[in-house]
Amino acid sequence: MLIPPDVPLSERAFGFLANLVYERSRIRLGPDRQSLVAGRLRQRLLALGLDRYEDYCALLESPQGGDEVDSLIDLISTNHTHFFREPAHFDLLARDILPRLAEGVQGSLRPLRLWTAAASSGEEAYSLAIVLGEFARTRPWLSWHIDASDISQRMLVRCRQGIYEEEKVVLPASEWRERWFQRGIGEREGYLRVKAELRRHVAVHWVNLFQEGYPVAAGQDVIFCRNVMIYFDAPSRELLVERLTDMLAPGGHLFVGHSESLIGIRHRLVAVSPSVYTRRA
Ligand SMILES: C[S@@+](CC[C@H](N)C(=O)[O-])C[C@H]1O[C@@H](n2cnc3c(N)ncnc32)[C@H](O)[C@@H]1O
Repeated sequence: MLIPPDVPLSERAFGFLANLVYERSRIRLGPDRQSLVAGRLRQRLLALGLDRYEDYCALLESPQGGDEVDSLIDLISTNHTHFFREPAHFDLLARDILPRLAEGVQGSLRPLRLWTAAASSGEEAYSLAIVLGEFARTRPWLSWHIDASDISQRMLVRCRQGIYEEEKVVLPASEWRERWFQRGIGEREGYLRVKAELRRHVAVHWVNLFQEGYPVAAGQDVIFCRNVMIYFDAPSRELLVERLTDMLAPGGHLFVGHSESLIGIRHRLVAVSPSVYTRRA
């Protein structure tokens, strides 16, 4: 049962929720998002035994409301993603960036470090892992590590599992499925799981991009922060790019979504292509 659709989310309650979400995550909820927010929260109210959005706002404001804010952001965030989304980025990485990075670390013990900073359910992290796994087949000495993070705990559970519906695992080369995934049997039929040999390279963390300090190492060679900046306003984007630049190694690359160029914001990066940037060496 849901709370009836005619229970309204008032302007006041929506304003309160939008402010709270912005304060915590910098996600902007414009007035056009009011019915989306009402829809996404309806089930949560029911689970909590509340029948008015105002009661939910009161809970969020109360001393017990701290953890509930995380659930709110979890419900509000848009998590759409898929394997090898915006494939030109992965081609550029495999063709151009990884060979240079590998040359730079050959003979040292330094791993290549990659971070997917809005990883959602993990398809982006494992797409990178497949690219690295393929690349390292002819360079068995190469050590590499991927950090995958997101603000949504719900998505991070899926990211850690690395289990996906078979029909959603669409890869640029058909043999990669056999090589990097294991097929589910019994209850798991129709699902594929990323093999442990790739998963062991991927560490999953909860990270709010605007929190103080990040639980990942500085000196990243590659950061993917794609299709999340569209939800932030320009000052937040500027702040985020500044902080991500600090996390890059000199010569490291930042990838943003194709619709998220850094035009109009101040930054210290050099454009390599419209959505790929590098920190000066
Ligand atoms: C549309 S998905 C993008 C997934 C993937 N990067 C891609 O391009 O396919 C956006 C992700 O950003 C996350 N997100 C939104 N605000 C965030 C914040 N302040 N800190 C960390 N992650 C955030 C959401 O939870 C969501 O999973």
